[in-house]
Amino acid sequence: MSHPSFRLSLRFILPLILVLGLGAYLVVPLMDALTLRWSLRDLDTRSRVLAAALQEPLADYANDKSTTRIRQLFNRAIDDDRLYALAFCNTDDVIIASTASYPEALGCRNTGSGDALRQPLVRLPQGPIHVAESLLTGDAKPLGKLILVHDMRFIERRSADATRYVMLLAGILALVISAITLLVAHLSWHDWMKGVRRLLRGELMPLSETPAAVAPPEMQPLVGDVRALMREYHLERLGAPAVSEPWTADKLRTLLDGELAGDQVLVVSNREPYIHIDTPAGIEVRRPASGLVTAVEAVMRACSGTWIAHGGGSADRQTVDRHDHVRVPPDNPSYTLRRVWLSKEEERGYYYGFANEGIWPLCHIAHVRPVFRTSDWDRYVEVNQRFAEAVISEARSDDPVVLVQDYHFALLPRMVREVLPRATIITFWHIPWPNSESFGICPWREQILDGLLGSTILGFHTPFHRKNFLDSVDRYLEARIETEASTISYGGALTQVENYPISIAWPESDDSDNLPVAEVRARVRNALALAPNCLLGIGVDRLDYTKGIIERFQAIERMLELSPGMVGKFTFVQIAAPSRSSLEEYQAFEVRVRALAQRINLRFGRPGYLPIVLKAAYHDQQQLQQFYRAADVCMVTSLHDGMNLVAKEFIAARNDESGVLILSQFTGASRELHEALLINPYHVEEGANALLRALTMPAIEQRERMRSMRSLVRNFNVYRWAGHMLRDAARLRQRERVMSKIHSHSRRSRRQAV
Ligand code: F6P
Repeated sequence: MSHPSFRLSLRFILPLILVLGLGAYLVVPLMDALTLRWSLRDLDTRSRVLAAALQEPLADYANDKSTTRIRQLFNRAIDDDRLYALAFCNTDDVIIASTASYPEALGCRNTGSGDALRQPLVRLPQGPIHVAESLLTGDAKPLGKLILVHDMRFIERRSADATRYVMLLAGILALVISAITLLVAHLSWHDWMKGVRRLLRGELMPLSETPAAVAPPEMQPLVGDVRALMREYHLERLGAPAVSEPWTADKLRTLLDGELAGDQVLVVSNREPYIHIDTPAGIEVRRPASGLVTAVEAVMRACSGTWIAHGGGSADRQTVDRHDHVRVPPDNPSYTLRRVWLSKEEERGYYYGFANEGIWPLCHIAHVRPVFRTSDWDRYVEVNQRFAEAVISEARSDDPVVLVQDYHFALLPRMVREVLPRATIITFWHIPWPNSESFGICPWREQILDGLLGSTILGFHTPFHRKNFLDSVDRYLEARIETEASTISYGGALTQVENYPISIAWPESDDSDNLPVAEVRARVRNALALAPNCLLGIGVDRLDYTKGIIERFQAIERMLELSPGMVGKFTFVQIAAPSRSSLEEYQAFEVRVRALAQRINLRFGRPGYLPIVLKAAYHDQQQLQQFYRAADVCMVTSLHDGMNLVAKEFIAARNDESGVLILSQFTGASRELHEALLINPYHVEEGANALLRALTMPAIEQRERMRSMRSLVRNFNVYRWAGHMLRDAARLRQRERVMSKIHSHSRRSRRQAV
């Protein structure tokens, strides 16, 4: 048997058997000595009793000098099979009468005085015997002595039996303990291995489907190590350069010019990177509150190309040329924004309806039920077609690199592929992918999977979501899945499915343009009318039910309840950018958030002090930077989140290496930012305790944690994210080109041969 639990148990069982064997070996002589001592004592007593019984007749017969009667008396007495022999000696130590069995060698042995024998044990060739002497008197005169000899071989038999029993008992004990050990070891090994497997599959990492799926306590010490190992392994697999060599915008440009030979890059997303808005003061340009936009914009600045997106701003039409193009960023144009126009009805069905009432709750599993309507689906198909046509019309060659963003465009990859079969289509799914069973709720699941498999590469943030996707394809499509290589072969084409954790662009210089933290702290506190030493918490989110804002407020309330000393000393600023507010679910959510903030403020507030400051309004990047830098703690408590870039933005902003990040274990970011205080946001006390811990964390610990997270985010930045996808794309493109050359060469050769 070669099972590891068996091998492990042997290490325990062999010493156990040795110890038990040694024990038995030591115990047996001890037991022998004890048995002997008891037996001797027994025989002494027995001899005394026998001598007393024989005293009277023997004295009579001795006085009569009747040796025959003495012998008869003795022969009757030795019927008892333990009494071996008897002899009677006169006072001159001459044997007067004895049984035939009496050993001659004993003679009239004189080994003791009176009744007490000093050496009762005598070894004869036939075995050990016990000899006892008893003085015989008659009429107060000594007549001689009676010698009683007992056979002691029964003691040897008894001792041998005892040894056998002890050995047998030791053997049985060893067997029973071994069996129990084997069973326990096997069960623990089984559980342990199950735990390790789940850890390796990523199910015990922070981003699991259910909040309960966290590593059990005995696995906790391993989680960090396994993550680090997995990261190293993943880097190796991607052939990534040393971590100390960060990716930069320049490096990304070099990759595009070199490996992609300057091929055209087209990005498609629903949200545009710059929104033009009509205001009384004229046209204003805004950056939307969107992690996707923050990340992809940095990449587009580096790669140029064209970004196709929905023109949703009130002044968007006024700012484009006749091709619906506008050069952005406005202050330093480096790429083109192509706007696509949607009617209100299209926007309602495709964006609000199918994308945000259907796919969004479906993928986030945050206790809001998805709603699927055929009319929404129809708009979704139409709008995907419209954007696909925009991509096709923007393409200058038949093989552009198309970067498709997010769940708004699940059908677009296939639509583009049909017209541009040689295009390299990289689709990135920015939100979680649910398990196959949950995904099965969607009435158009096959169409969605089919659409996505039009991509050359399909990316997710985490291995967990990638695996969920593979499982969904396995369950609902006829496709061949190579799990090892993470490829799906479907309809004669191959899609590479990978995980590429998204990130942010690390600030160019660590000193940044910002004011020193001490100054920002003072300004922000002043602006909020807080005491200069007030502890400040910050939350930055879209007003979305997946972000855990309610749970965050509940944790704050509980912390104030448990630590009344914090009342008046701690204020939390929640920045909540309005989002998708025409949907009922979002309106109701906003009402709940406001009501809860108000209730907590009523409970703990006092004149001049509010524990929660809710700023439900759009804030630009510069304003956010101020809050990030002024805060003592940043809370990211999403109930489920693909990545969450607020966590990384907070870290990037803290070049003073202080501040604490509290991070939900259900964000993709928690897989990388191990030095954050990781929490289960559904557990109010856990959130409250983490908040108190963050507010009282010594500066040195804050620095250690922040330094480590900063080095990670600096290296694993958005250029690395895009770089890895584009490098994989370049490799696949190269393979594609070689294959098509080989095919056309072999076609030519066949033609010539004919
Ligand atoms: O997280 C999903 C996502 O699409 C992000 O990529 C983006 O940051 C956010 O939602 C914005 O949502 P919307 O564009 O609907 O405002």
